[in-house]
Amino acid sequence: MSEFLSMYLNWFSQAAEALEREVEGRLWEPPYDGLVVVGMGGSGIVGDVMYTLSIDRLDIPVTVVKDFTLPKWIRSGWLMIAVSYSGNTLETLLAVKEGLKRGVKVATVASGGKLTELAVSKDLPRVQVESGYAPRSAFPALLLSTLKLLSVLGLKLYEGLRSSIEVLRDVKGAEVLAEEVIRAVAGRIPFFIASTKYYPLAVRAKNEFNENTKVLAKAEVVPEWGHNDVVGWEGWKEPIAAVVFREAGNELMKFVAEHLRDSGVPVKEFEVEGSDYIGDILKWSQVVGIASVKLALELGIDPRVTKSISKYKAFLKDVLKLD
Ligand code: F6R
Repeated sequence: MSEFLSMYLNWFSQAAEALEREVEGRLWEPPYDGLVVVGMGGSGIVGDVMYTLSIDRLDIPVTVVKDFTLPKWIRSGWLMIAVSYSGNTLETLLAVKEGLKRGVKVATVASGGKLTELAVSKDLPRVQVESGYAPRSAFPALLLSTLKLLSVLGLKLYEGLRSSIEVLRDVKGAEVLAEEVIRAVAGRIPFFIASTKYYPLAVRAKNEFNENTKVLAKAEVVPEWGHNDVVGWEGWKEPIAAVVFREAGNELMKFVAEHLRDSGVPVKEFEVEGSDYIGDILKWSQVVGIASVKLALELGIDPRVTKSISKYKAFLKDVLKLD
């Protein structure tokens, strides 16, 4: 069995380990004027989940930055959580440095690298996650550490993480669902569609198929879907497949799936909502992760290697001299 695949199959132990990790450094305290989560790719997806969680849980503005700079309106009084598995991602490091310059209260989640070095030198609140993973395969550790860090800093976004991770024990169940995803999308361009609540999952699925399977993929969010993307499906010609993640009883998502079916596209629907949002996000991220890795292996593609990301990062460093 591929060593990379086993990283996904072992998410329960990764998650359990992450919950044992301590928050280090001097702590910040509320009130905060706002929360910004910075990070890219497999680390940045954590920010998307924090934003979604915050919608009905926090009464301060929350934003996600996946860029080299911060918006002008983020200033002292804000809390920043910087997530970078390697700790060496340029966009994230530049946003952090700018935040520090503006007097933003910065806290970090990383496995090491320059971000951890900076956090240690300034005694910033931080969690150092287990090293040795590819960033995207370390999603449970990054997600749970961020929630834990936020909670210690006075922003309680989610209770009961210990029971949320239980869902990851059912590896066989995840593999069965992964097989359904594979059969739905093999040989086609996958379009992952979800409501705002599960949009981070659609983005995560897209990213996993990009990075592991080396295919183009797309993520769409409803209701925005109904104002543009919906028309594109009138004239589709490419080999595409729609994967709809929907909550039970969500009539709008039912309409989306029916509409796509009527337009002749192969559609696969998954009911993703259980009783625990973080459990759902972990479980379905594991399912699409396993699917994207297994499909790559079936096609003789190495799921682990991401040559083009390395090329992009080298360009930032060597040509743009961003370091
Ligand atoms: C690699 C991956 C990438 C990285 C991204 C940022 O597994 O998923 O999307 O997450 O290039 O790097 P880190 O996560 O180290 O900040």
